[in-house]
Amino acid sequence: MNNAAVFIYYLAAFTFVKVTALNTNPFPKDFKFGVATSSYQIEGGWNEDGKGENIWDHLVHMGPFVVKNNDTGDVACDSYHKYKEDVAMLKELGVNHYRFSISWSRLLPTGFTNKVNEAGVQYYKNLIKELKDNGIEPLVTLYHWDLPQPLQDLGGFFNDNFIDWFGDYAELCFELFGDDVTNWLTFNEPRMICVFGYGYGWYAPLIKSPGIGDYMCAKNLVLAHARAWHIYDAKFRTTQKGTVGFVIDSDWWEPSSNKTEDLAAAEMARQFVWGTFINPLINGDHSSIVKEQIASRSKRQGYKRSRLPEFTEAQKKYLKGTLDIIGLNHYSTTLISAQKSHNLNALGFFSDSEVDSRQPDDWERTASEYLRVVPWGMRKLLKWVKDTYNNPKIIITENGYNDDKVKLLEDDRRIYYIQNYLSNVRDAMEKDGVNVVGYTVWSLMDNLEWISGYTLKYGLYNVDFNSPNRTRTMKKSAQYYKKVIATRRVG
Ligand code: NOJ
Repeated sequence: MNNAAVFIYYLAAFTFVKVTALNTNPFPKDFKFGVATSSYQIEGGWNEDGKGENIWDHLVHMGPFVVKNNDTGDVACDSYHKYKEDVAMLKELGVNHYRFSISWSRLLPTGFTNKVNEAGVQYYKNLIKELKDNGIEPLVTLYHWDLPQPLQDLGGFFNDNFIDWFGDYAELCFELFGDDVTNWLTFNEPRMICVFGYGYGWYAPLIKSPGIGDYMCAKNLVLAHARAWHIYDAKFRTTQKGTVGFVIDSDWWEPSSNKTEDLAAAEMARQFVWGTFINPLINGDHSSIVKEQIASRSKRQGYKRSRLPEFTEAQKKYLKGTLDIIGLNHYSTTLISAQKSHNLNALGFFSDSEVDSRQPDDWERTASEYLRVVPWGMRKLLKWVKDTYNNPKIIITENGYNDDKVKLLEDDRRIYYIQNYLSNVRDAMEKDGVNVVGYTVWSLMDNLEWISGYTLKYGLYNVDFNSPNRTRTMKKSAQYYKKVIATRRVG
């Protein structure tokens, strides 16, 4: 080898080692490890004991065309009856927290507070008590996609009254459970709620209105978050001493080259998610890139005004500073270019974010095409959030790996995924000074993966969906995560 070749060889070797070396330093003592689920995906008992219908119940019973294999959440993991078993699994893992969501229609069958379903209240009281008795902290999501159908019949997120409906529901939850629950998350993955639900119409309530419906939804969603935050702040914070956060879903959008236009395209991709949902809660308004982009495109298309509804001055004030902690769901990374030749907007951006996205073939894929294993994206994203929002407090509320095998118990690739993503979290904290306070694996167990039905599996525990009692079995990844929690290091 000549000198140049030797140099390149060592550079490559060094880069490789640097990229793959695990950070095995222990996580701080107060760092929280947990796992997550959501009501519709695990509970079942869809019409039991007075529960009302929600938009996913409605969708899965509409006919055989939306969810793979016509699967439904009617029984799911049957956690409505088996919550004690779930808590025993959590105990076995040794988690510090359990992130689950409350089913709005189980508590309020009509969606309104005029009729509280006592059986629903009791279910969540029992679950929370079981957690507390086992030393596990509840981390509760108020809205994980299962809107009461009667509220959707009135327009759902499009109806400006949604802000009050959600505020009333949140207030009831704070009253009922707030003595035992101190960490609240209002909305899970607003991009999926609004862009998939009210934009592209791929998820319940299947409304197709890209570029209009998604923005109307987004506006009421952030205002509803702010309403819940203000209610908590005014009535509960001093006594209950908790926090109210919001869960954003974000890939890392990596520029495909160092060209100015690709750097700008990647920033635009990030802004269309963060600038639409997080900016209003921190700074009181959408980010300027989002506003300018939508306004100029709307104008070119002949609209009289921007398709992005503006906040009034009063709303801006009301929104600003209403985020105690950022919940971050992060799974994968995408390469972004300004040049449009690949999968334009295929990954669920707002239809106005005209960027090109792709994932190279040599990035390891999971059973779903868009979830590639790219651990370094985690660190880059965390650093970007720190720099963009002045070092906010972050809890990773979801991160996980899927496969599509009926019963894969020796799930080594899931272990690899968790280990390497967590190592990047540790690097982000230690080397970049990012304020991450916890990490949560999606998911405790295999469950209903929305329109993919039961085919995509994310669980640390396998669930046998053919057995009437939904038998749970520990996977190798659960053993691994248990060890991580016990030693507080990735291995
Ligand atoms: C996002 C969602 O919050 C959750 O419901 C879903 O199952 C996982 N990520 C995996 O796609």
